[in-house]
Amino acid sequence: MFVTFEGCEGVGKSTQLAMLKEYLKNTGQDAVYVREPGSTEISEKIRAIILDPENTEMSAETEALLYAAARAQLVKEVIRPALDEGKTVICDRYIDSSVAYQGYARGLGRDFVEKINCYALENATPDVTVFIDLRPSASFRSTSRNDRMERESRDFHDKVYEGFIAQSEASNGRFVMIKPEKDKNATQKKIVDALRERGALK
Ligand code: TYD
Repeated sequence: MFVTFEGCEGVGKSTQLAMLKEYLKNTGQDAVYVREPGSTEISEKIRAIILDPENTEMSAETEALLYAAARAQLVKEVIRPALDEGKTVICDRYIDSSVAYQGYARGLGRDFVEKINCYALENATPDVTVFIDLRPSASFRSTSRNDRMERESRDFHDKVYEGFIAQSEASNGRFVMIKPEKDKNATQKKIVDALRERGALK
């Protein structure tokens, strides 16, 4: 099973992923955990270029191609071999982030993004995508990281959200929409229940 996690900035995705990892460990279930862009030596180098706040001249096309390049390396090196061995792969962001950020928010369009990514994916398409369904949080700007994407406008991040919603509607049920609860444990329970229901977890 190939499970991806998606969401806007500052919605608690990382917390929920860490909790899920703990749950799987405690219940004796193995999985391969990766994040995008990154998780291979080359993909992490590409990540540094993409997110460097000094790269203000980067064109939208370059950005989309770099995300796809980082993805191609991760698929070839880690995801495809793991899936071929029958392992569960859990990936923090994937193709739907490219469609939402580069396709919708940067305005490149969904077709362009899907086209360039078809070379990267090697048919490694997610079985289930958990979407943390919350508009981008105003609080994300106060994080210390402040990378090139986080510095984008409120309007940009609102478009990202709209892009994810459009992706979910076109996903033929691949998306699981999780509205976060105030209590992070309650949110986690929703995620675990949804993944179990779809046979992605025991
Ligand atoms: P990261 O620090 O991993 O963000 P988060 O913790 O919110 O997941 O940085 C990844 C950034 O890259 C994030 O702003 C989303 C963006 N992104 C894209 O624009 N396109 C993509 O294809 C991917 C995978 C990420």
